[in-house]
Amino acid sequence: MRRRGQRCFAGTMVETGTQGAQPLLRAEGVRKIYRTGAVEVAALRGLDLEVAAGELVAVMGPSGSGKTTLLNCLSGLDDIDGGRVTLGGVDLFAMPDAKRTEHRARTMGFVFQAFNLIPVFTAIENVELPLLLVGVGPKEARRRAAEMLDRVGLGARGAHRPNELSGGEQQRVTIARALVARPAIVWADEPTGNLDSEMAAQVMDLLNTLNRDEGQTIILVTHDPAIGAAAGRLILMRDGALVGDERRAVRPAVGTGAAGTAAATRREPPGPARAALGATLTHER
Ligand SMILES: Nc1ncnc2c1ncn2[C@@H]1O[C@H](COP(=O)(O)OP(=O)(O)OP(=O)(O)O)[C@@H](O)[C@H]1O
Ligand SMILES: [Mg+2]
Repeated sequence: MRRRGQRCFAGTMVETGTQGAQPLLRAEGVRKIYRTGAVEVAALRGLDLEVAAGELVAVMGPSGSGKTTLLNCLSGLDDIDGGRVTLGGVDLFAMPDAKRTEHRARTMGFVFQAFNLIPVFTAIENVELPLLLVGVGPKEARRRAAEMLDRVGLGARGAHRPNELSGGEQQRVTIARALVARPAIVWADEPTGNLDSEMAAQVMDLLNTLNRDEGQTIILVTHDPAIGAAAGRLILMRDGALVGDERRAVRPAVGTGAAGTAAATRREPPGPARAALGATLTHER
């Protein structure tokens, strides 16, 4: 039986929350070097990170600091040049490519800034795809996709193709697609980057609700200081390294709306990473 504060992952129960929990994700000394001709860019320089099940982690940092690289490497989408990444104790890079791809399909969901929906598929067909890929039967996949679309407030839009949906709706379809297979981790790279502030707030409210109510672990890259300031945990990157890592004692609603930001400033004085937010992040783009 699962009890509150636990989540089933890869057949074992892991504690959720951040206190005394075995990390769901562990990165040790991860290095990534891009080689373009004679030029080498060290995009990750021996990076260590632990994320517990149930955390919502915001990753911020100047453009080019390695945030997307971190997401790509820690999820196993891209290869690494050194170090180790384990998810639920399983070493991602010790398995062959094909196995890693399958493992990723079963354990991770992705939300990118450019929604990456398949244009000729309807919303519901896009959402059911990850289930079909891991062998769920068509009827069950359709049922679960419909349920997930409902969950993101798009129950009535299943038959629409992406170009018949607003930007916020398209992003909510990508979130439904990322979550439909109940992944251990959802990775999101600037999920609100292409949205106006109202749609961005809706998308963040949805991610926050999934995190708070269902213990969904989410690691998201953002340039929005309001999202970073209100997240349960904030990581700052610079030049391929982590230069800040702070947790909040109390988690308010993470959103770009006034409520989340006001709660963030009211409940906890900023630590160095949060204090640095305003200074380092407002001029980076
Ligand atoms: N495919 C690639 N080939 C070569 N260099 C790359 C490649 N992708 C990224 N880089 C370099 O690696 C560094 C980190 O890039 P990354 O995309 O991770 O930054 P970022 O923090 O996500 O930036 P942004 O906020 O602009 O999205 C940058 O210096 C970038 O130029
Ligand atoms: Mg990026």
